[in-house]
Amino acid sequence: LQEAACEKDLTGKKVLITAGATQEAIDPVRYVTNHSTGKMGYALAKNAARRGAEVTLVTGPTSLEKPFFVNTISVVTAEEMYQAVTDAFAEQDIVVMAAAVADYRPKTVADEKIKKADGGLALEMERTKDILGTISARKENQFLCGFSMETQHLKENSKAKLEKKKLDMIVANNLKIAGAGFGTDTNVVTLITESEEKELPIMSKDEVASAIFDEILIKMQA
Ligand code: CTP
Ligand code: CA
Repeated sequence: LQEAACEKDLTGKKVLITAGATQEAIDPVRYVTNHSTGKMGYALAKNAARRGAEVTLVTGPTSLEKPFFVNTISVVTAEEMYQAVTDAFAEQDIVVMAAAVADYRPKTVADEKIKKADGGLALEMERTKDILGTISARKENQFLCGFSMETQHLKENSKAKLEKKKLDMIVANNLKIAGAGFGTDTNVVTLITESEEKELPIMSKDEVASAIFDEILIKMQA
């Protein structure tokens, strides 16, 4: 019934979504990651599919079930996510980058398990590639939406990312608000574009996903 009632306003659109955290190996048993569970990105993928889009979901490791009617590509590292996204980018109409991509990875991955020894352990880290920055430089007519996770100066920092990465929209998440951020079923976000900032009330991640695509369609038609 819900299916029938839903407006198929993304029919004919190709939508690429990234979700979850990436994992960057230290050795065969350990890795560096973050708290992203993928819930927001999966909610976006499901919403877009329900609205008739042809959806590709590039996801880091999560405990979520693969959504129906979505082409799901599983990756582990930021480098693998970079490859999957840059391979698929040219043919997309809309890209929403909800993944929490590692900014740094261990410079070398030990072949064998690192054994403990007296004293501390220093890990040398190197930068990963900026996926959004890369696709933004190759952008033709795609609508690009990023996510921004901040613990302070949410709007200023997010607006700066919108401009620096030349995005059409950024979804700003304040980690310090109750009901927002990692692992929750709800989120509190502000949709920021060049011309406006829309602060949304606390909503389920499914409702946030729906509001994001509503706003994207308005901006694409403008
Ligand atoms: N992002 C990306 N590639 C990276 C890091 C981030 O594509 N290597 C994307 C994220 O998916 C998100 C957006 O860039 O959509 C902003 O991510 P965020 O971590 O908030 O911003 P950064 O530019 O990485 O800046 P910082 O972490 O220093 O705040
Ligand atoms: Ca980052």
